[in-house]
Amino acid sequence: MNLAIFASGNGSNFAALVKAVEEKKIKAKFVVLVSDKPEAFVVERARKAKIAVILVKREDFVSRADFEAAIIQRLKNYKIDLIALAGFMRMLSPGFVKLYRKRIINIHPSLLPAFKGAHAIKDAIDAKVSFTGVTVHFVDNQMDHGPVILQKQIKIKRTDTLNALEKRIHALEHKLYPQAIKIIS
Ligand code: GRF
Repeated sequence: MNLAIFASGNGSNFAALVKAVEEKKIKAKFVVLVSDKPEAFVVERARKAKIAVILVKREDFVSRADFEAAIIQRLKNYKIDLIALAGFMRMLSPGFVKLYRKRIINIHPSLLPAFKGAHAIKDAIDAKVSFTGVTVHFVDNQMDHGPVILQKQIKIKRTDTLNALEKRIHALEHKLYPQAIKIIS
């Protein structure tokens, strides 16, 4: 299975997936990173790991359709079986989702449908809920939405700071993403 990762941030999930592939925990070949942020640390991680990088900046294109067409065009060089979003922070258009139907997955740091969006960990703390967690799901046309593949909860301690909870959530993400890929491959 040829795997593409779309990421534009730190890339800790990217690193966890690369490791899982290297250690043969998932039967996948890591073929390419797609990023819209040349300065993102994930790009450096990919270069160090000698993984191909497709860099496409949104501001270089007039429309989202053109931006996505450029990604699609360049992805054609690789036979992609699965796209794993890991902090890409952009909604993909219905056309893109349809093209890779049931082949795009996302990881999100909450128990979806609770706390969608970019501040899910902080939102859970602010809401004073006792549990939050991590969800891996297929991507559909709504943000942080689609059939769940795997979900696991984490207790929020009364003493938790945002930083402490973030650390535990990210550690859980790094375990859960490879497991989810194993389930669907
Ligand atoms: C993760 O928390 C993931 O759930 C969310 O974006 C973050 C990416 O973190 N979608 P990293 O770049 O993989 O470290």
